[in-house]
Amino acid sequence: MNREVFKPNREFSKSARIKNMCEYQDLQDFAMRDYEGFWGSYAKEKLEWMEPFHTVLDESKAPFVKWFLGGKLNVSVQCIDRHLNSRKNKAAIIFEGDRGDKQIITYLELYYNVNKFANLLKNEFGVKKGDRVVIYMPMIPEAAYAMLACARIGAIHSIVFGGFSAEALKDRIIDADAKVVITADGAFRKDKPYMLKPVVDEALKGETPVKKVLVVERNGEDVTWVAGRDYSYNELIKHQDVKCEPEVMDAEDPLFLLYTSGSTGKPKGVQHNQAGYILWAQMTMEWVFDVKENDTYWCTADVGWITGHTYIVYGPLAMGATTIMFEGVPTYPDAGRPWKMVEEYKVNQFYTAPTAIRVLHKTGEHEPAKYDLSSLKVLGTVGEPIDPPAWKWYYEAIGGSKCAIVDTYWQTETGGHIVSPLPGATPIKPACATFPLPGIMAEILDENGAKVEVGEKGLMCVTRPWPSMIRGIWGDEERFVKSYFGDVKKDGKPVYFTGDGAIYDEAGYITITGRTDDVINVSGHRMGTAEVEAAIKKHPNVAEVAVVGKPHEIKGEGIFAYIVLKSDSGVADEVEEVKAINKVIQKEIGNIALCDDVVFVPGLPKTRSGKIMRRILRSIAKGEEITQDISTLEDPSIVATIASTVQSCKL
Ligand code: WT7
Repeated sequence: MNREVFKPNREFSKSARIKNMCEYQDLQDFAMRDYEGFWGSYAKEKLEWMEPFHTVLDESKAPFVKWFLGGKLNVSVQCIDRHLNSRKNKAAIIFEGDRGDKQIITYLELYYNVNKFANLLKNEFGVKKGDRVVIYMPMIPEAAYAMLACARIGAIHSIVFGGFSAEALKDRIIDADAKVVITADGAFRKDKPYMLKPVVDEALKGETPVKKVLVVERNGEDVTWVAGRDYSYNELIKHQDVKCEPEVMDAEDPLFLLYTSGSTGKPKGVQHNQAGYILWAQMTMEWVFDVKENDTYWCTADVGWITGHTYIVYGPLAMGATTIMFEGVPTYPDAGRPWKMVEEYKVNQFYTAPTAIRVLHKTGEHEPAKYDLSSLKVLGTVGEPIDPPAWKWYYEAIGGSKCAIVDTYWQTETGGHIVSPLPGATPIKPACATFPLPGIMAEILDENGAKVEVGEKGLMCVTRPWPSMIRGIWGDEERFVKSYFGDVKKDGKPVYFTGDGAIYDEAGYITITGRTDDVINVSGHRMGTAEVEAAIKKHPNVAEVAVVGKPHEIKGEGIFAYIVLKSDSGVADEVEEVKAINKVIQKEIGNIALCDDVVFVPGLPKTRSGKIMRRILRSIAKGEEITQDISTLEDPSIVATIASTVQSCKL
């Protein structure tokens, strides 16, 4: 692996928070020498405490750990109130709508809007500390107000991405036992209105714990109102007081839940708590994007994913930055839209997903040249491995070969970045997440907890708890322990395993190779194969199904389904049947989980104990020669049959 190395821009490094690898190493040495001292000093310096903590870390019940015990704070104070002295008239959020409409919200306005929202939830809906509130919203400022309003009154928000179906929304509402849903009529995409409220209506049919629904008006389309349940935000907000005392929260009280996919059919409610999460959100914003006081920072994610939580709302606001929120899609009205916005807002840090970079490259290679992108200093990527050609284009055409690319590796569960370059310090290599951030004890280990050799693929682990790590899976302690601490032990102690494979190169750089479990990554959206299978199985004609990921030019990975139909299903038209299967997926999960390939096969490759050999199915999907030992299969001949079926489908 002899890759090109790009040194940090020297001008940039001069004023960067971490200026070179010596400074990085000093920080990492400090953390290794005195772990609690390291974290304790940052927690004191960075967070606005209502009451100080007395203990930095309690590991006595590991993997259930506690950070900053005794400390009291409020995350909305950290993100808003504490900036009012020095930044009250600074733009906190710059919003650009799909149609180009704009809104600038200052820190003082944010303060009033969040307080009013908090009062609405508290006084009109009776939301109390610890209650769960589901947020099903488009990318509009009210989504951020809703999150911060929950934080202010101590309610636990659970955002469900707007692309999820009514069924998926319902499952998450029920699992979290939420009594309030905050939504909007809908929003705009590609100049056309789309709807969210009808999906909420559908999700709330039958038994659910939801008592109240708050509807923000965005696109003004007609929606149905259920009397006594649905309320207009735009009406109620008019009567709310602009002051709301922040709830005094314990450092380890839950802040939010965010459902993500695992290796079973049921998504897991990842729980993040107050102090540790907001501390790391802020520190990584400062270190990894190195945002300065007058900078404008733009992350293109959706608030429905962890990136939107940590790097559109909580991280930027905690550090007092200006964060852009964008409702639209990057390719509308053309693939120059993001670059036009970079020019217009003089964006300094731009953070997006490899899928978006690939699309913008493929459909708008020459667009960047039309705009002045000279304000850019740091470019970020996240969500999936980026391929070297996309990386190169990003570096040259967008960054003008002078911006650092931070390939940030992390997960819903880690709360914030864990492995990433530091823009003023790290010499970067294309498509490489480089080194663990200061304070993060990330290592690539084998199953026995030994560090792997250079060039050898191993398991990406974190060997010590860190402040923003997942605190639990909502309602399922056992699954938490099993999912993350069951696979790898180091010196006899279970360590956190991310589920990803990774490799060290000769210089110790970490490259993430992708998931080692049954989780696939479609356009940076995390999907459990078991979840997609469970959806497909709901179709009455389906007897058996196995879903695998297949490399996809734009999306990174696509979904490939092998389906065995029931013998009496009488399916005559396979094309129609594929449509019917995708309809079921759309209903159960949403469009984000639609299959790229569906192949009907007579059987699946199973061992005698009935386990499906997915590795074989992955190889066939890729069109690879089967080199695995298939003699342990119940019926080895099925492999050739499936391979030829797939072949003939391609013809
Ligand atoms: C999975 C986590 C992290 C926020 C968005 C996704 C993959 C993430 C990278 C990267 C290679 C990456 C991993 C990880 N991933 N960042 N820089 N290089 N792979 O959060 O939905 O929890 O997905 O995304 O496979 O486990 P998520």
